[in-house]
Amino acid sequence: MSSAKILVLNGPNLDRLDLRDSAIYGTMTFPQLSDFIITSGSALGLEVEVRQSNSESEIITWLHEAADKRNPVIFNPAAFTHYSYAIRDAAAMLVLPLIEVHLSNPLAREEFRHTSVISGVSHGTIGGFGPDSYRLALIAMKELI
Ligand code: DQA
Repeated sequence: MSSAKILVLNGPNLDRLDLRDSAIYGTMTFPQLSDFIITSGSALGLEVEVRQSNSESEIITWLHEAADKRNPVIFNPAAFTHYSYAIRDAAAMLVLPLIEVHLSNPLAREEFRHTSVISGVSHGTIGGFGPDSYRLALIAMKELI
């Protein structure tokens, strides 16, 4: 196992993944997605912890914790991607890399999703591959850390 635990943080409404537009988000429940991420991490020899919150404040607290504990972060900020400067500022304080992920490809969707205020403080962004976006991010993170 790698020494640094990877935090996989997820933003609002992802807890209700299976109730969202299945043409965009598929049919997986969030617990199933979480299991997929943990299993993908184990296969790569990575220790992974998955969290989800609908609260901007809680996510900021988790980013502070990741900065203090020097955790790499894989982050699906969900709708906060598009407007949360507070989350961006917290992400900017991370010591180890952050990779932004999205299940869908926001650039192929509505115009308001074309802006990410997080991308500028992330190492890179992976989107459009469904749950595999997280697995690809884990592979990329393994190379980075
Ligand atoms: C999302 C894309 C965002 O635009 C949206 O608000 C989400 C999920 C994705 O994973 O595709 O909630 O981050």
